[in-house]
Amino acid sequence: YVMWIIMIAGAYVLGSIPFGLLIAKSFCGVDPRTQGSGNIGATNVARLCGTHWGVAAMILDMAKGFLPVLVVWQLGAETALVSLVAFAALLGHVYSIFLKFKGGKAVATTLGIFAALAPWHCLGAAAVCVAAIAVSGYVSLGSLGLVTALPVLLAVFGRAELVPLALAVAALVFWRHRENIGRLRRGEETSWRKR
Ligand code: G3P
Repeated sequence: YVMWIIMIAGAYVLGSIPFGLLIAKSFCGVDPRTQGSGNIGATNVARLCGTHWGVAAMILDMAKGFLPVLVVWQLGAETALVSLVAFAALLGHVYSIFLKFKGGKAVATTLGIFAALAPWHCLGAAAVCVAAIAVSGYVSLGSLGLVTALPVLLAVFGRAELVPLALAVAALVFWRHRENIGRLRRGEETSWRKR
């Protein structure tokens, strides 16, 4: 069990690294916590610093989910441990040890986790996300579509063992988007088309 605890704690600390914040502060001199949506994630970094820095933040935040999950998966861990390591990485991102337990909305790290565990299902959910963003203009709506589609795709296409993780992820992501959901309902969410 000591190895389990080390892996879960390691994933949490790795997940805690706020790449979006570091990129925005270092490369465009902006604190994303005080501007735009106030979030440290790729969407807000793109909004404030340009798409390229947003993409960089997205890739690095994805890696925080992808790498720890891939390592424990390759070591032959069972689904329960893999799921705990994945969720620990997400909790790190959302409740970062380096940011007094504040953090992001968990979308990019979720993509990284499922890119490692179920790449085709992840691609399908990402397609739902992109379509929702393209049609509505709201990244947040795409993110909610992504985490809604994931458990459904996993359940329907033969990866039921990952559904508990996907449902926990969906709950966390919806919770973290509660301000976005309020803005969407009031028609006040910021479209990516107008920065
Ligand atoms: O991944 C976060 C996205 O869904 C919303 O970001 O900055 O518009 O709140 P933001």
